[in-house]
Amino acid sequence: MSLPEIDGEHLLSTLAQLGRLGGLEGGGVCRLALTDEDKAGRDWVVGQMRELGMQVTVDGIGNVVGLHAGREDLPPVMTGSHIDTVRTGGLYDGNYGVLAGLEVVRALRKAGLRTRRPLAVAFFTNEEGARFAPDMMGSLVFQGDLALDAALATRGIDGTTVAENLERIGYRGEAPTGTATVGSFVELHIEQGPVLDLEGITIGAVEGVQGISWTELTLAGTSNHAGTTPMRFRHDAGLVAARIACFARDLAREMGGDQVATVGALNLFPNLVNVIPNRAVFTVDLRNTVSTLLADAERRLWAFADEASAAEGVTLSRRPLARFEPVAFDPALIGLVETTARELGYSVRRMPSGAGHDAQILARVCPAAMIFVPSVAGLSHNVREHTEPADLIAGARVLLHVLVQLAEQQPDQ
Ligand code: GLV
Ligand code: MN
Ligand code: MN
Repeated sequence: MSLPEIDGEHLLSTLAQLGRLGGLEGGGVCRLALTDEDKAGRDWVVGQMRELGMQVTVDGIGNVVGLHAGREDLPPVMTGSHIDTVRTGGLYDGNYGVLAGLEVVRALRKAGLRTRRPLAVAFFTNEEGARFAPDMMGSLVFQGDLALDAALATRGIDGTTVAENLERIGYRGEAPTGTATVGSFVELHIEQGPVLDLEGITIGAVEGVQGISWTELTLAGTSNHAGTTPMRFRHDAGLVAARIACFARDLAREMGGDQVATVGALNLFPNLVNVIPNRAVFTVDLRNTVSTLLADAERRLWAFADEASAAEGVTLSRRPLARFEPVAFDPALIGLVETTARELGYSVRRMPSGAGHDAQILARVCPAAMIFVPSVAGLSHNVREHTEPADLIAGARVLLHVLVQLAEQQPDQ
């Protein structure tokens, strides 16, 4: 089958249009999961799917799947990603994979081509986990590893539940969860790190995703007067939080390799200039490509946190938010991404993913892989996130060729 071209101008224009929904003054986008902005983005993407004649379903956690029928009624080849963002998101994280998937369908449709297997383009609910933990919530429910009821009952950073927000925005759908059969899954995404940009390489064939450990820590001390309380009498929750944050950084540097550590959210109470904090609530994000090293990092950080709390006379409690083991993608699919990129004339390298992705969850139930394109200066989760148009189009071309090859495979291949 001779394959059609991706309409690059159309892809860039849809990315810009979606980026205006929840767009921030001065650039970037804020479409936290299940907010009104997320609803606006969802409605717009569903409209695009309908214009392409796709059959659209919404499941009980709000995952949306658009189906482009194949010549045979076989499990679909699926692509897609997410359209929720962090509070200071860019235009491409997640959105690119969804809109490029639709661009593949658009190109095939325009050329009057139907693949043997159906093509499905999905966007999964709350991939970011910025408002509701865990991240990748929608794909976890989709493939059956997180119970729908538990996900619906999850309370977010503003105290409201997933269920009430899904209902409010009209995306608590009817399609069942945990029962879908997917032939294979390929997610196209920006790298969100500096490797491809630094090395001047266009395509990343992603071999796997590093392990992720998210925990919320709460320290309880005693509020007292900042002027009258001698240092030796203090039980300062803020001080211990600061010590733990510094230790996390030192630990990651000392361990080296792929170990990273981040304290990304920190709230002190009552948060006033002249009051010793009686409470600190903060998050720790630890990641490593090696399972045993990630477990070591956790063990060492919690041991330090216990010690530092005891020394200051504050109590510590930990609440797990998310925990994912490192994931290896399907070797045949990784090879297919690599050879397809080469055949299309692009430079390509194999690499791990530092960020979490829905593909790592789908990998539990079907062969899965990812395609990366460069992020300028490695910036992401930042309003200045950028990928050059030529690279965005290159990634979409690789996606089209990979998807069609998978969708043309004989059922027993
Ligand atoms: C999702 O973007 C993550 O935190 O990796
Ligand atoms: Mn993403
Ligand atoms: Mn993200």
